[in-house]
Amino acid sequence: GKVYPAAITIFGAKGDLTKRKLIPALYNLFTDNHLPPVFTIYCVDYLEVDEVAFKDDLLAGINEFSRNGIADEKKWNDFAARLSYIQGDFLKADTYLCLKGKLDAFEKQNKQNSTRIFYFATAPRFIEIIAEALYQQNLCNRDGLDRIVVEKPFGTDLTSAKKLNRFLGKRFAEKQIYRIDHYLGKEAVQNIMAFRFANYVFEPLWNKKFIDHVQISVAEQVGVGKRGGYYDSSGALRDMIQNHLMQLLCIIAMECPKEYESELIRDAKTRVLKSIRTYSTPQIFKNVIRGQYTAGNIDDAPRQAYRKEDHVLSSSDTETFVAAKLFVDNERWQGVPFFLRTGKSMPIQSSIIVVQFKDSPHKIFKDDIVPNRLIISIQPELEISLLFESKIPGLQMKLKPVEMDFTYQESYTETIPEAYEALLLDVLHGDATLFMRADQVEAAWKVVMPIVDAWKKYPAKELHLYKAGTWGPTASNAILKPYAKEWFRLSSRAEIKGK
Ligand code: BG6
Repeated sequence: GKVYPAAITIFGAKGDLTKRKLIPALYNLFTDNHLPPVFTIYCVDYLEVDEVAFKDDLLAGINEFSRNGIADEKKWNDFAARLSYIQGDFLKADTYLCLKGKLDAFEKQNKQNSTRIFYFATAPRFIEIIAEALYQQNLCNRDGLDRIVVEKPFGTDLTSAKKLNRFLGKRFAEKQIYRIDHYLGKEAVQNIMAFRFANYVFEPLWNKKFIDHVQISVAEQVGVGKRGGYYDSSGALRDMIQNHLMQLLCIIAMECPKEYESELIRDAKTRVLKSIRTYSTPQIFKNVIRGQYTAGNIDDAPRQAYRKEDHVLSSSDTETFVAAKLFVDNERWQGVPFFLRTGKSMPIQSSIIVVQFKDSPHKIFKDDIVPNRLIISIQPELEISLLFESKIPGLQMKLKPVEMDFTYQESYTETIPEAYEALLLDVLHGDATLFMRADQVEAAWKVVMPIVDAWKKYPAKELHLYKAGTWGPTASNAILKPYAKEWFRLSSRAEIKGK
């Protein structure tokens, strides 16, 4: 289609997300020539800042956080020339009048309409306020051109998510609303669709008949850092499970859509969410384990206890670790457990999905012990491996599991874009495939609500403490029985292969 100039407005321009993710992503898109030839970026926040100092700080962000490292001076100057800071209170009409003046002038100067993107990189309490102001000022009312991008958390529970959906739905068309789940933009996550739906070899096995169970782990080495204020009222269930891990589960479990098309793909994912079994309260305490980290060591550096972190209550019962056993009640998956696990302050960062196949029903080798596994590594390594038994060379018939590996490093020379690059470009192109539709977000909340409610009712019940720098409470192994003794070892893939 026609390439319009782009006018990108970021609310919350002085925030962490803007500096670490949004500006580095936009800068990389610019240097790789993915942005339209004419574009402008308005950075809005309430702080009084000097424009030069503001830009220097963004440049420092690129230099520190961009996958390409230090920015090229000329490119940065070109890019920075199209950036401007708008000091404004999100609560005041003046802010939006000023923005309106700039947007109108930009379009007049280019003698054509532009794609307007409004990115809400703010605290959740500002979403409705900004949305209302955009609506009142008619800043975002051309449904083919104007879009808003809403960051998580999208609501704090089902009721608030529904309320927010209704609020936005009255002011914008659904196709203008881009709800971000940045895990969907990760290269290795996007590749799962290609792997499943472009390779028929696995499809006949991809069901209850051949799959024993699935493990989805997202381990983080970071603690809560400076985000204690937000995190302490959220916790791992809402911060990670409700969105990122649930979406990974959807991609593994979904049916093949009729076409690679955004509504059809999102329909298929929503159907998975709606098929997840709901537990009673006693079942929750049996099948969902929560933990919180205490002081420990990570990479030889001390990590303080969660309860000592800034802006965290010293008596906090907020979970920093969750392990859950879930079932997808449909024909394909009946009886196959999906084990989800995520935690902070773990020994290393590692996101891996393991699809464990059933053991051979008939064994003729006594050391045929390890079942086949498909291991999908999402980060930090990007790999897909198939684990299978093989004969150890020698004069005896002895077996040992080995791996058939696909690594991005060996197969591709292309650079791997950041999730935010992929997602921002999709917003510019008006492609919502990798974004959360209203019903999808609500369906995901419905899955976790009974857990949220049970934990609220029994705040301290079975909150397992684990030492920072360990793999979480040992209680999390119990839910795997009888499918596995313990969780898949998330040591770095490179390390496993070295052995
Ligand atoms: C965010 C969570 O959505 O995802 C953070 O709010 C978490 O708590 C982050 O650290 C993890 O993202 P990534 O891309 O670093 O795995």
